[in-house]
Amino acid sequence: MKHLLDIRQLSHHEITTLIQRALHFKHNPNYPRYSHATLANLFYENSTRTRVSFELAANHLGVHVVNLDLDRSSESKGEEIYDTINTLSAMGIQLFVIRHSTDGLPQALASRFDANVHIINAGDGQHEHPSQALLDIMTIIEQKHDITQLKIAIVGDLRHSRVANSLQHICATLGVGELVLVSPTVWQPQVVHYGRVTTSLDDGLSNVDVVICLRVQQERLHADEHLDTAGYRQDYAITKNRLALAKPDAMVMHPGPINRGIEIDSDVADGPQSSILRQVRNGVYMRMAIIESLDFG
Ligand code: NCD
Repeated sequence: MKHLLDIRQLSHHEITTLIQRALHFKHNPNYPRYSHATLANLFYENSTRTRVSFELAANHLGVHVVNLDLDRSSESKGEEIYDTINTLSAMGIQLFVIRHSTDGLPQALASRFDANVHIINAGDGQHEHPSQALLDIMTIIEQKHDITQLKIAIVGDLRHSRVANSLQHICATLGVGELVLVSPTVWQPQVVHYGRVTTSLDDGLSNVDVVICLRVQQERLHADEHLDTAGYRQDYAITKNRLALAKPDAMVMHPGPINRGIEIDSDVADGPQSSILRQVRNGVYMRMAIIESLDFG
């Protein structure tokens, strides 16, 4: 494929091929080397784990990495980013990993470049975060195998979460048995792509196979949505007691970074059912599979 912009562009076959390839990398550390290629990390929003994950993935494949020291304070506009990519492309860089607060920016940029520029969306506004959804589903399939038989609950701020959007699309394409979107009324999604919405955490957790807990994104809250942390915690935090409603072997996931004691308790996040660090680990292999799948020649 030319770019990775969103989950909707991917077929069932393309998703399962990426997962197989990522699992192959995980179990066969004799990686191919693409040492003629260079990847630029363009992160216009703060990120540690996603940026480092792409950097490690590129390093494992022999791809050179350029981390740009971007000025996040003066939020760069599309035109400036277009010029930045043009300049870097003229220097021979082929791969561009972009994170930006504007919905749809990677897609808009991708449509303006020729065959030598390959864009990976590392999170655009409240729209999509495709590499996160791919690594999440990889982690679920690795442990639970047949995804069509599973009940999965996504809990938290579904209104502002690009992770939740990408997850809904990937669950739709792969035919996940039951997807339940659990959130307080103010954070219910404006558009539901797949699954059913409930305000009841008990409903979401009952007999569930996988719980995906979202971060309370204080930086993305609008002024009119007053965050009552204590109230949210009371009704929606994933605690040890609440987790007892789930199947005994239910997996607990979180895209990170976690707010301990707000959306999830430490004894759950660090407990035996937690797959949070497995997600982080799998993220490197999935990003290797993504980088390799782009036809950068
Ligand atoms: C997510 C993001 O940035 O969209 N985190 C991540 O990629 N590790 C989720 C979040 O910020 O809550």
